[in-house]
Amino acid sequence: MTRPELVLLLAGFGHVGRRLVGLLDEMGSRLAFSWRVGAISTRRHGSALSPTGLDAARAAAHVASGGSLAGLTPAPADRVGLSLIREACRMFTDEAAGGRLVLVETTVLNVDEGEPAMSHVQAALEARAHVVTANKGPAAIAYRELAALAARMDRRFLFEGAVMDGLPVFNLVRETMPGVRVESFRGVINTTCQHVITALANGREMADAVADMQASGIAEADPSLDLDGWDAAAKAAVLANVLLDGTLTPSRVTREGVRGLTGDDVRAAARGGRRLALVASGARHPDGGAHARVRVESLSADDPLAALRETDNALYLTTDLLGEVGIVQRTSTLTQTAYALVSDLTTIGRGL
Ligand SMILES: NC(=O)c1ccc[n+]([C@@H]2O[C@H](COP(=O)([O-])OP(=O)(O)OC[C@H]3O[C@@H](n4cnc5c(N)ncnc54)[C@H](OP(=O)(O)O)[C@@H]3O)[C@@H](O)[C@H]2O)c1
Repeated sequence: MTRPELVLLLAGFGHVGRRLVGLLDEMGSRLAFSWRVGAISTRRHGSALSPTGLDAARAAAHVASGGSLAGLTPAPADRVGLSLIREACRMFTDEAAGGRLVLVETTVLNVDEGEPAMSHVQAALEARAHVVTANKGPAAIAYRELAALAARMDRRFLFEGAVMDGLPVFNLVRETMPGVRVESFRGVINTTCQHVITALANGREMADAVADMQASGIAEADPSLDLDGWDAAAKAAVLANVLLDGTLTPSRVTREGVRGLTGDDVRAAARGGRRLALVASGARHPDGGAHARVRVESLSADDPLAALRETDNALYLTTDLLGEVGIVQRTSTLTQTAYALVSDLTTIGRGL
């Protein structure tokens, strides 16, 4: 059976975007679709656009070594960001009409207005491209509006990588739990903070622990988004909006981060048989809507979240029909995040 070909427009080509093209190459015939990259847009490393497809591996190597994309095509794209996406959508109108054009949005997280991702997602959906993203911003800030726009345009807006990387959270509920109502969630969903708390317990400095996460490409571009709880709040907003019918934004999540914690705090908890963790939780309101919060909790030894290792994540969903459903992530690298995008692309490919 011939596999459908997807044309990918890459908005953002940092750690996640570059790992995605590497993973797509590595997965080869295991993919349910074939692909070519029609455009790449970055902030400081130029842009590229080609109707016949770009050499994605070469582009990734070029950007990773600090180069610009400008020299990669005979006629370099002179537009960037939103205007490049609009131009690419015009270039690939046949693919858009056929449901084969996909915006892959991996620009930086913005917890206030979600920009530039929000505009990228809207423009792509309006041009009848599908959208897959690892960026939490759009679904954390405007899930209902974007889901409605996608439905009107008969296209998909998918964001599996927004929470727990490639482990199925939204796919799990959407595809395998039909008719099940999620009542609440609770979990450790920020790898950087989990690593920081473990490092403090071992007598290390917070700054060194953050540097570890930056070196592995896991910390946010601005690590204060992790330390001040914004990343977890954005994820909690996405979970509440999608699974609990909430209408939250990151700033409407009650939030506390780990910045004020010291090694003494973590070790004092351990002496009392407890473990500190940054926990995100949320629940439906009895009269509709949902609330969510992120805070440092002192966990008793029998709490499943207390058993997590230094870069583990876990999310427990309380449901009406299945009781408590747990998802535990024991490996957290860029491959897991890139796989989230692959799984969303597969959903689109299978729909063709
Ligand atoms: N890293 C992870 O483990 C992980 C896990 C889950 C989700 N995520 C999410 O995935 C997204 C990408 O993460 P990352 O680690 O790949 O970030 P990153 O390495 O900082 O890359 C961000 C990319 O976005 C580009 N960019 C920024 N502003 C732009 C704009 N206005 N127009 C076009 N491009 C723009 C940057 O271009 P320049 O490099 O030229 O500035 C860069 O290519 C973030 O939203 C993050 O929250 C990341």
